Formats: sequence, structure tokens, C-alpha cells
Amino acid sequence: EKGGYDHFMLKEIYEQPRAILDTFRGRMLANEGIIRMAGVDDNIEKFVNANRILIVACGTSWHAGLVAEYVFENLTRIPVEVEYASEFRYRNPIITENDVVIAISQSGETADTMAAIKLAKSKGAFVFGVCNVVGSSISRETDAGAYTHAGPEIGVASTKAFTTQITVLTLIALKLAQKKGTISKSEFHQYLSEMDAIPAKVEKTLESANHVKTIADIYKDATNFLYLGRGYNFPVALEGALKLKEISYIHAEGYPAAEMKHGPIALIDEQMPVVVIATRKGHYEKVVSNIQEIKSRKGKIIAVVMQGDKSIKKIADYVIEIPETLELLTPLLTTIPLQLLSYYIAVMRDCNVDQPRNLAKSVTVE
Ligand code: F6R
Repeated sequence: EKGGYDHFMLKEIYEQPRAILDTFRGRMLANEGIIRMAGVDDNIEKFVNANRILIVACGTSWHAGLVAEYVFENLTRIPVEVEYASEFRYRNPIITENDVVIAISQSGETADTMAAIKLAKSKGAFVFGVCNVVGSSISRETDAGAYTHAGPEIGVASTKAFTTQITVLTLIALKLAQKKGTISKSEFHQYLSEMDAIPAKVEKTLESANHVKTIADIYKDATNFLYLGRGYNFPVALEGALKLKEISYIHAEGYPAAEMKHGPIALIDEQMPVVVIATRKGHYEKVVSNIQEIKSRKGKIIAVVMQGDKSIKKIADYVIEIPETLELLTPLLTTIPLQLLSYYIAVMRDCNVDQPRNLAKSVTVE
């Protein structure tokens, strides 16, 4: 059942090229320049005329929502807010009939997310679900939706659900951008053909597994980790830290790289590994200088860089390469080594990777 892998988590990490492909297969025709998704097409006016998009979710799904915020705002120019479902529902939120609410949930059973949906519906908002489990409670409660076709996710730590959520949300954003004319035809085509190439690039990224394992062995006894990223990769830093916390029980925090100097830099010493997502696209120079600040305080740098990177290689202790892609799509690649890093560290610490202590696969209590 684990298909020859030691754990479901590792199997599911390795399933991502296929899972992402399954998620856009039949929906995105890259050569024809077409994206079709019934749940979006049938409600296109609601999306296009939305005053804003509100995303509600928990945990890893909330991180996918944060990536989507950057993607939607950039491509569609529709304002987006991302809320923890548990906070949203208890603070008398402002919701109107002109809002589109997107609820993201792998299991489709998360109680707080469900409660947020009911609240949004009661205020007249159109609620769209992005779920993995077909026929789940959330997929039934929402007005429309799009499934991530990731296949069953058994490991408690969410992996392929995250990357397929980002894939679905990116397709929706591209569809709306095309409809609204907020991106050019040629940009649209470029995004589609780059998305088409992502499964193979995820496959390529997975080839760094042994190298990541070596890095895991070096830092497995650390008691704290920092994860830094900017822009599209800030939420990936949060997700990397969450993954490490939940399966290896090492304290970790994710930060936008530039926030370092506003406090967390005080934590840096020679004991502190800092994972920095530093793709050549997007604030690259700034991230290089953030890395230098850490280095000069003797922090250890593990950098996720784009193939062919030169500057960061010179200053980082370890680099992990991902293939070149468009900045907006980098989270689909940068996530992979962070999943592997937490997986290997957890295994080396003898943790129960698939069923970490205190955690359940779906959280049906509020
Ligand atoms: C983290 C993890 C949790 C879930 C969260 C939401 O690896 O699995 O943080 O992401 O409980 O679950 P869903 O997406 O099922 O609503």
C-alpha cells in the first residue's frame, strides 16, 4: 500500500508530479490556450464581478491560500484576503453579496472551515470549495467548487494536497485574468506552457532527495530552525516551518525574509540553521543581502536556489537547486525540498512520520 516507500508521506511527496498533472489534466489545454473548469465557468460572472475574494482555510491549506493571494492579486487585480477559518468566524466579519469566498480543505471535513462557510453563505456570499476528498462535507456545503485530484492523502502531514491546491487556485486565477483581460495573451500562453512543464520539473527537483538527506543529517539535532522567503515564497517558508514542527517536533518559524531585521535576527547564532528560499526571480538582491546579514552573525544557511545560481552558492553553507520557471510558479518547486528536509529529519529522529503525536488527519472539532 505504501508502494515500496517507507512511509505514506514519502510516497505522497513522490506522487506530486502525477498529482499536479492530474489536477490540470483535462482542465488546461496549453496548446489551445484554454482553461475550463465547470465550477468556475458556470459562475464566471460572480468571480469576475467580485469586489474581493476572501479565502478561508486552516493549517497547510491556509498557506496555499496565502500563495493564492499573491497569485490572484497579481494576475486578476481582484483584492484578496486570507483568513484563518477559526478567526474569521468568531469576529463578526464583513461579508457582502459581492464577495466570493474560497474555502480550501484537503479533507473537506475541517470543522472551523465548515463553520466559516456557513457564516459566509448566511451573509449571501458565493462560496467556492477547493477540496481533495470527493463528496466530503465541505464539497457538498459549498455553492460550487473544483477538486484537487491529488488522490488519497494518508500521511497526516499534508504534501501533495498543498501543491495541488496551489495548482487549482493558479488555474482559476489564470482563467479569471484571461476573462478580465488583466494579463496579455502572450503572458497567458506563457503561464500555460510553464504550468504544463511543472510536473517534469517537480520530478527533477525530487532528484535532489539524496542531497537533502545529507543536509538533514547535518542539522537533525538542531533545536530551532528559521525559514525565510519573500513574495510568492513567503507562504512556502511558513509551510516549510510547519512541516518541520509537526513531524520532527523541532521548533521552527517562518518569516518574510525582510522581517528578520525587525526582531528574529536576535535569535541567530552558530546553532541556528536558516532555510532561505532564494530563487533568482523576485527580490533576489534583497534576499542575498538578508543572507549576508545572517552569515555575519554565524547562522547556518541552507538556500533553495534556481539552477545556475552563482552569488548565493558563494555564501550559503548548502544549496538545493530547483529548475528555472516563472516566479509565480516557483512555490510548486521550492516546496518540494522543504518537504523532503522535514521528512528526513523526522525519520532520523525516529519520529512517527505518518502519525505525529497529538495530530489527526482531519480536525472535526472547533
Ligand atoms: C499540516 C496539516 C494541517 C491541515 C489542516 C487543514 O500538514 O495537515 O495543518 O492542513 O488541519 O486541513 P484540511 O485541509 O483538511 O482542511
